[in-house]
Amino acid sequence: VSGAPEPIEPALRLDRRQGWPETLRFLLRQYPREVWPGHQRLDSLAQFWLQRHAMLRALAGALRHASGELREGRVAAAPFRAWFAPRLGFFLDQLQGHHEIEDQHYFPLLMRLEPKLVRGFAVLENDHALIHAALARLDTQGAALVRATEAPLADLTGAAAGFAAESDGFLAQLARHLDDEEDLLIPLILDRGSDPLTDG
Ligand SMILES: [Fe+2]
Ligand SMILES: [Fe+2]
Repeated sequence: VSGAPEPIEPALRLDRRQGWPETLRFLLRQYPREVWPGHQRLDSLAQFWLQRHAMLRALAGALRHASGELREGRVAAAPFRAWFAPRLGFFLDQLQGHHEIEDQHYFPLLMRLEPKLVRGFAVLENDHALIHAALARLDTQGAALVRATEAPLADLTGAAAGFAAESDGFLAQLARHLDDEEDLLIPLILDRGSDPLTDG
């Protein structure tokens, strides 16, 4: 695949998308989610991928939940900070690293494996760019929240509400991206095996 990338059609942008159009669902129709667990070609790579996604969903949800607990006064500033600050940093690092290896290693191999899905993987790459921008905003709100827990006169409730609001939008985008990515790549692995993704 060479030349400038085609622009993403509006209906497939992350903030508008409601799953994949029919033209990108031919493998998903053959391998619907119900058959994934226990499938003989759901190998260690495919399982690892699903586990990474589950971890990212759970951690993002836990960070959002914790900010709500702080805002409602159910947890004190110091224990909140001790729990929240390292997990926010870990989450940001893990998600960025995950996207990097997908963009640089796996997506090009997956596109080569099934040219009829190239458009879908290009959409997912575009998602990564949008999520990256949202991640920067989440980082800013999270850092402001951590600072507020350290300053005696800070507006802790306001900072917690700011983080919660940013993470609500972020979580919706992340969930859409992870679900759609799984719907594209897990059926492809079940159909072809993951050897083409690990060789070389
Ligand atoms: Fe991704
Ligand atoms: Fe992913």
